[in-house]
Amino acid sequence: MQNFTFQNGTEIVFGKGVEEKTGEKVKQFSDRALFLYGQGSIKEYGIYEGVVSSLEESGIETVELGGVQPNPRLELVKKGIDICESNDLDFILAVGGGSVIDTAKAVAIGVPYEGEVWDFYESDRTIEQALPVGTVLTIPAAGSESSDGSVITKEEGGYKRAVGSEKIRPQFAILNPEFTYTLPDFQTAAGAADIMSHVMERYFTNEPNVDFTDRLGEGTLKTIIENTPKAIEHPESYGPRSQIMWASTVAHNDLLGTGREEDWASHKIEHELSGMFDVTHGAGLAITFPAWMKYNYQKNVERFAQFAVRVWNVDPDFFSPEETALQGIHELEEFYESIGLPTRLQDLEEEISEDEMKEMAAKCTEDGPVGNFVELDETDVLKIYKLAQ
Ligand code: NZQ
Ligand code: ZN
Repeated sequence: MQNFTFQNGTEIVFGKGVEEKTGEKVKQFSDRALFLYGQGSIKEYGIYEGVVSSLEESGIETVELGGVQPNPRLELVKKGIDICESNDLDFILAVGGGSVIDTAKAVAIGVPYEGEVWDFYESDRTIEQALPVGTVLTIPAAGSESSDGSVITKEEGGYKRAVGSEKIRPQFAILNPEFTYTLPDFQTAAGAADIMSHVMERYFTNEPNVDFTDRLGEGTLKTIIENTPKAIEHPESYGPRSQIMWASTVAHNDLLGTGREEDWASHKIEHELSGMFDVTHGAGLAITFPAWMKYNYQKNVERFAQFAVRVWNVDPDFFSPEETALQGIHELEEFYESIGLPTRLQDLEEEISEDEMKEMAAKCTEDGPVGNFVELDETDVLKIYKLAQ
């Protein structure tokens, strides 16, 4: 196991009715906030009212900015920065999913910075300052409610890029599982694939003696595998929805990566897909992760066989280690298909040409090879896109 420090400073406020605490949580930081949300689901499904009345009770003044799109765009980030500057707002409240939260984090970085906020996304420039961010989560998926990352797409060129810094980790996350009852089945399923991918990016490591975190990861994966079909069948069931929501936060709060090297190639390979073709991130991962696995499992058959046996109950007495490993990948694909996700590029509405795959592979590796479990160059990434066809 490697040396590590672990600290996750996001306060988690979890359960039924917890949105009532939003005002008091914001008040700890400011009484003037930007209230950021998406394309209207919070108003359509009654989440908005509860949050607003809590803010009013605590005397928080807000300026609203709605309209954040999935795969959030730089243009709206700039609008948010302008609004904060012209209204003297010094707190960002994100009410929504990963796209809204990532936009909030980008605005938080952009307000105290003199230059263009995109500078941070296209280089590894250090974030020195950011406004505090708080979140009311409405979809378990991206884990952005307690992560240190933000992923934004620059419209010009379809560049989807990430930044990471402790300065943008949210101060609090209000998690009411009842808010997720209204999710379309496809979003519940795509969220499940994203959550599982956050575990698997950490699970596939070459570091020995990390059995404790392996077991935590396997438990997280099994929780999602068992509860997602139940949530899709009975959308308004608190049991499955609450377990998915908590598992989703833990999957991406850094705990499951402690003491080990993480991979993240499958995410980078996916971000090119959602950046260029506006694919839903979790659905893109249901395509890129199994393809990455097929390309790389031979580098550490034992670890893939362990994944198959412990997560998917594959019988190792029945198969060779290599067959066991392959069976695990097959089970993962079957699970994704069973919850209505695509597992091949050809399942997407967009038709992706060979030239476009080459373009994605080049963009994905333009800063050097991706991944740590195995380092992948442009040729490898192109082969993975082709395997995913
Ligand atoms: O726009 P609204 O009206 O809010 O509708 C959203 C959107 O259409 C809808 N939705 C959300 N909550 C709902 C709901 N519909 C009905 N009832 C509810 N309760 O769901 C759609 C998807 O929302 P979005 O915020 O895009 O989803 P998600 O949380 O999956 O976020 C995806 C984004 O996060 C990034 C992804 O790349 C993608 O851009 N990621 C961010 C990470 C991070 N910051 O740490 C890590 C992840 O790996 C990921 O890359
Ligand atoms: Zn993800």
